[in-house]
Amino acid sequence: MARTLLLPLLVCVVLAALSVALVKADDPYRFYTWTVTSGTLSPLGVPQEVILINGQFPGPRLDVVTNDNIILNVINKLDQPFLLTWNGIKQRKNSWQDGVLGTNCPIPPNSNYTYKFQTKDQIGSYFYFPSTLMHRAAGGYGGINIYQRPRIPIPYPIQDGDFTLLIGDWFKTNHKILRQTLDSGKSLPFPDGVLINGQGHTTFNGDQGKTYMFRISNVGLSTSFNFRIQGHTMKLVEVEGSHTIQNIYDSLDVHVGQSVSVLVTFNQPPKDYYIVASTRFTKNVLTATAVLHYTNSHSPASGPLPTGPTYEIHWSMKQARTFRWNLTANAARPNPQGSFHYGKINTTRTIVLANSAPLINGKLRYAVNGISYVNSDTPLKLADYFNIPGIFSVNSIQSVPSGGASSVATSVMQVNLHEYIEVVFQNNEKTMQSWHLDGYDFWVVGYGSGQWAAEKRRTYNLADTLTRHTAQVYPQSWTAILVSLDNQGMWNMRSAIWERQYLGQQFYLKVWNAVHSLANEYDIPSNILVCGKAVGHHP
Ligand SMILES: *[C@@H]1O[C@H](CO)[C@@H](O)[C@H](O)[C@H]1NC(C)=O
Ligand SMILES: *[C@@H]1O[C@H](CO)[C@@H](O)[C@H](O)[C@H]1NC(C)=O
Ligand SMILES: *[C@@H]1O[C@H](CO)[C@@H](O)[C@H](O)[C@H]1NC(C)=O
Repeated sequence: MARTLLLPLLVCVVLAALSVALVKADDPYRFYTWTVTSGTLSPLGVPQEVILINGQFPGPRLDVVTNDNIILNVINKLDQPFLLTWNGIKQRKNSWQDGVLGTNCPIPPNSNYTYKFQTKDQIGSYFYFPSTLMHRAAGGYGGINIYQRPRIPIPYPIQDGDFTLLIGDWFKTNHKILRQTLDSGKSLPFPDGVLINGQGHTTFNGDQGKTYMFRISNVGLSTSFNFRIQGHTMKLVEVEGSHTIQNIYDSLDVHVGQSVSVLVTFNQPPKDYYIVASTRFTKNVLTATAVLHYTNSHSPASGPLPTGPTYEIHWSMKQARTFRWNLTANAARPNPQGSFHYGKINTTRTIVLANSAPLINGKLRYAVNGISYVNSDTPLKLADYFNIPGIFSVNSIQSVPSGGASSVATSVMQVNLHEYIEVVFQNNEKTMQSWHLDGYDFWVVGYGSGQWAAEKRRTYNLADTLTRHTAQVYPQSWTAILVSLDNQGMWNMRSAIWERQYLGQQFYLKVWNAVHSLANEYDIPSNILVCGKAVGHHP
């Protein structure tokens, strides 16, 4: 380098080439083309329509590394518009790529859209799924594994292998019929079964003495499950990007939209063992099994299935409180998780979100603080960018429940970039809730029964709770989270329970700053699809 500096002209060329090379060397690009089609499979023994990605159900797994740049072209060959969203991928400064109807136009049939995003500062097990209509009831989902960069230590020995387990309740009914049911103002029926990786009989093969990571996600529509393995314990190591205190569990509750990673050592006599996922908090218990097979085993799985909790709410709440941050371990970046003292920062506001199931115009809807969200034909993000009036209102939803009649609106709550907020999910209904926020993870500081009140703050874990992107709320209970609003954009806050999301239990959090700066938010992508009132506008 020193010598080339003597040649000014060459220097420019070399430096320009070098800077391009450095960007690429730091953050590799990964290119994908995914074709989405409909096909016929019989996951519960009867043929039904499923959504395939490159012919697969579940879809292809994304195996990436922290900070990778993903260039992923989705070609929609369905007869309906389609979008994928990336559950827990934070889309830093980039809500343009979030893949929900408030940020993106759905990809029309026989058309395509290329997502461009980075897995910035993230590590762990995640999944993607279709966000529009009731496509999620037909598959179209897949796992996302984000591995550590070279030289970034992880707080456990590198596993001998990885298994992805996408587990969820499933309906034999076609997704279009399920949607008609919801559109007519009725609730979905009870699911017909539970699938593990799209089947009723998956086998996971491993060698005796080795340790494998099980990356478990609840990709279902409505039901929490409990997961366990006959004769084996599980060491919890990662939850939605947090490295946890490595407690040992016999069984784990995973709520809709959540992911956990556990290590399982094949340390038992060589035979086959049952893997079980059974529904939680349901009158009828649906059970799915898979098989853990030792490669030197000659005996099929046998004996009674390991039992797990079914309705015990306090058991689940107690277990949830044991999910804690390892303060000295790092996550995707080298600094220890505990170096951010989340419990010592004053919050700037408290938002209380109460879910409800009102009848509006005689039809069942779900609402947040009395407002049932309706999608606009124009994505809110585009309306905001192109200054298209009349699409949404930032005054339509209150930040605390106010009583009175429920109504529908395209509701947006506006908050300032760099605020530090407390959000309380107040569930006065008798059903389980699961809340998800796009663009963020957050500290789940407390779970409690009954009504939340300011004095409940004394019970918060302000020392070592973990961050995650989806938090469960138990029946007639509350859950409190703290969120550091460091990611500008238009972010979906929704029920992960899909019937509730579909019928209005969601809104958008507009994280906003008056100063327009590319340091805070990326510019509109040049290939963005336009629809609704955005037609005719160009990036
Ligand atoms: C559709 O795919 C083509 C490549 O096949 C790509 O050039 C184009 O940008 C894609 N369209 C969008 C909107 O991303
Ligand atoms: C926490 O992480 C540290 C650093 O990786 C590790 O040495 C320690 O065993 C972990 N502690 C627990 C309780 O998991
Ligand atoms: C937080 O609020 C308390 C009480 O209002 C105040 O005394 C304290 O200085 C604040 N701390 C910070 C770091 O702003």
